[in-house]
Amino acid sequence: MNIINLENISRVYQVGSEEVHALDDVSLKIDRNEYVAIMGPSGSGKSTLMNLLGCLDTPTSGKYELKGTDVSDMSDNELAEVRNREIGFVFQTFNLLPRATSFHNVELPLIYAGVSAAERREKAEQALASVGLKERMLHKPNELSGGQRQRVAVARALVVGPSIILADEPTGNLDSKTGEDIMALFHEIYSKGNTIILVTHEEYIANHAKRVIRLLDGRIESDKPVANRTIPNRGS
Ligand SMILES: Nc1ncnc2c1ncn2[C@@H]1O[C@H](COP(=O)(O)OP(=O)(O)OP(=O)(O)O)[C@@H](O)[C@H]1O
Ligand SMILES: [Mg+2]
Repeated sequence: MNIINLENISRVYQVGSEEVHALDDVSLKIDRNEYVAIMGPSGSGKSTLMNLLGCLDTPTSGKYELKGTDVSDMSDNELAEVRNREIGFVFQTFNLLPRATSFHNVELPLIYAGVSAAERREKAEQALASVGLKERMLHKPNELSGGQRQRVAVARALVVGPSIILADEPTGNLDSKTGEDIMALFHEIYSKGNTIILVTHEEYIANHAKRVIRLLDGRIESDKPVANRTIPNRGS
C-alpha cells in the first residue's frame, strides 16, 4: 500500500510581486517500508518537498494522501495531529532544546501527545537506549558530541513510534565517520519496518537508500532504484 501519494503537487511562494515555483507539478508514490534519498542542487525544492511530506506546510495545488487520508486541505490543528502521530523529523542542525537534558528532549513529543509521566519515562529511556545513549540521559546538548546530539534527535523522532522518518541532511554537520554511524542507525530503523525519506547532497549517503529521487527546478528529474552495492573485486 502507498503510505504517501502526491498527485500534481505544486508549491508557489509569493515574494513581493515575484512567484517562486519551488515545486512544480510533482507526482510521487512511496510505499510502506521504503528507503528513499532525495537529491538535487541547492534551491531545487528538496526542503519544500520534505515540509509538505511532513505536514509542516500545505501545497498551493495538488493532492497529498498520507496513509489513504487526504491531508492537502486539512486545518493546522488537524495537520499537527497527523504530524505528531505519523512523522518523526531529523534535521541537519539537530534542533534540540539547548538547556534540556537528552531525556527531556526525547520526552517532549510525548508531552505534546498527552502521555502520562510514567509512560514517558519508559518510552524516552527505551528510545535513548535504542540509539546507544542510555548513559547520556542527563547530559545537555553542549555536553554531547555532534554524533551523539544527532542520535538524541533520532531518539526524539522515534519516541512516538511514527511510521515515517523524514530527515533533511541528517549528516550535513557531521564528519563522514560519524555520518556513517547515523546511517547505520537509520538502516536499523528501516529494518524494523519504518519508511525513511532523507535529503542529502552526498552520493555515499544516498547509496544507503534503496531509491534515489533527483529534483531539478522543482520537478522530478529522475527516480531510480539504487543498484546493489558490490564490493570491488581487487586483484582480478
Ligand atoms: N519561505 C520561502 N519563501 C519564498 N521562497 C522560498 C521559501 N522557501 C524556499 N523558497 C524558494 O523555493 C526554492 C526551493 O527551496 P528549498 O528550500 O526547497 O530548496 P532545497 O532544495 O532544500 O535547497 P538546499 O539544498 O539549499 O537546502 C528556492 O528557490 C527558494 O529560494
Ligand atoms: Mg534544503
